[in-house]
Amino acid sequence: MVFKHDVVIVGAGLAGLRAALEVAGNVDVALISKVYPTRSHSGAAQGGIAAALGNEEPDSWEWHMYDTVKGGDYLTDQHVAEILATDAPRAVYELEHLGVPFNRTPDGKIAQRAFGGHTRDFGKAPVKRACYAADRTGRVMMDTLYFQAERKGIKVYPELQMLDLIFKDGQVAGLVAYELATGDVHVFHSRVVMLATGGYGKVYKTTSNAFANTGEGVYIPYRAGIPLEDMEFVQFHPTGIYGMGVLLSEAARGEGGILRNGSGERFMERYAPTIKDLAPRDMVSRAIRTEILEGRGIGGKDYVHLDLTHLGEQKLAERLSDITSFVKIYLGIDPAKELIPIQPTCHYMMGGIPCNVDGHVLGGSQEVVPGLYAAGECSCLSLHGANRLGCNSLLDLVVFGRRTGLQIGRDLAGLPWQELPRNPERPALERIRKIKERKAGEKAAHLRSRLQETMTLRCSVFRHEETLVQALSEIRSLEERYGKVVIDNRGARFNTDLLDALELEALLGLAEAITVSALNRKESRGAHSRDDYPERNDEEWLKHTLIQKTDGEVRVFYKPVHITRFQPKPRTY
Ligand code: FUM
Repeated sequence: MVFKHDVVIVGAGLAGLRAALEVAGNVDVALISKVYPTRSHSGAAQGGIAAALGNEEPDSWEWHMYDTVKGGDYLTDQHVAEILATDAPRAVYELEHLGVPFNRTPDGKIAQRAFGGHTRDFGKAPVKRACYAADRTGRVMMDTLYFQAERKGIKVYPELQMLDLIFKDGQVAGLVAYELATGDVHVFHSRVVMLATGGYGKVYKTTSNAFANTGEGVYIPYRAGIPLEDMEFVQFHPTGIYGMGVLLSEAARGEGGILRNGSGERFMERYAPTIKDLAPRDMVSRAIRTEILEGRGIGGKDYVHLDLTHLGEQKLAERLSDITSFVKIYLGIDPAKELIPIQPTCHYMMGGIPCNVDGHVLGGSQEVVPGLYAAGECSCLSLHGANRLGCNSLLDLVVFGRRTGLQIGRDLAGLPWQELPRNPERPALERIRKIKERKAGEKAAHLRSRLQETMTLRCSVFRHEETLVQALSEIRSLEERYGKVVIDNRGARFNTDLLDALELEALLGLAEAITVSALNRKESRGAHSRDDYPERNDEEWLKHTLIQKTDGEVRVFYKPVHITRFQPKPRTY
């Protein structure tokens, strides 16, 4: 079928919902979601949303901006961080007024707690800046905004997978999507496409990301020739449940939790003497890996402990109830009494589709691509630089989701309907036909496991030229083997076998972009830590990576970092 809407937003997580709420009422807007909308991955965000409200102790937006820039190891574009920090209080009060049930202080204000890398007075000590609803902040924000979307009658298409973007004369004309329930391929004809599809943690074996986070929303524009930015910067959250990667919120440390090695030592005192366990995630993840590599894991194994035993049952029940139940369910452990085995887990992608602060997607010459917008984790505003701070993601989604919605509203008058090209769905149908008709070959699940193992082993917390070259050669051989991927289920309804095969193309393409970008950046900065280039090198590498597909080749080029207030300094905590 062909559906027609002025604006089609792909992704019904917080960025997509917030943008949709901004444009709804004035124009015809529809949301397409790969999953049932309220299952979008924003709902998995636990610990909080940052804003310098100063409800619990003095705070200021300048400190928040500084922390964001320093947390990003000075790769953050500072005008973007300034927008984030100055708009944060408005964004949080707006959420409160829309109905988000934040925890409260005894005098009824929005309660706040400490979080990694958020400090007072330019790094002097941790500050309580994270506004939270127990440890399900993303969940309650999602439910609230979805309810608002329903009130506004926004049309939602659930369980549709984007397959292609459609362009006409350089302007977006819509997209092609696969309907999981029926196997039908639909065309969406629109004046605007906004991508809000989230991250792609499934490139890695151990991840806090949902199964759906396979990155088509980033890969499809990349395949169409749009560059990707800062792809080498992959965030590993320090506290994933050992062996599973399920997220245990940083709020656990914000509330006083402590990391301990095999000797019971609070090892973060050695790595970040001022803010210890509340150092930014890249530093804590490196510290954990270092403890393990130097034989100080628990029993010499590849994990350390998160100690919450001193917090007491009441605090765990009131503020950390979800993670308490995760630990009980997945590990059979009572965190009030026992230590929790944890290891770093792939959590967030700093890299993505290059955008300006109003959500316009930028092409290879930094030009605005007419009709194409992006916000949230799939985008790269250069806001989080080389390492995002916890609680800045939920904030990013609502601040820049709203700005993108506002900008779409302003731009629409200048974006005429483009005629659809003939049979825009044909390339996607052809890809599906080939996969369905192939009789012999390799299963997507097998190739995907190989990819995830390779990335986890060779391109994760620590990297080295040798391991990156190995990773790249393995990815390229998997890409060749992908040409012969086979499926067992050739049916139309809920064909997840086919979906797996389609997703794998994106995972492979994005893994290649991460690895090539990592190989080229010969320094250590934020989440990109090279054993062979252990120092940050501002003279040569204070710049953003861009990677672009051109006639099957990849081109890597760079653009400067936007510095306004804070000159790069050595990053100690
Ligand atoms: O640890 C957490 O609760 C995660 C928060 C975030 O990624 O912002």
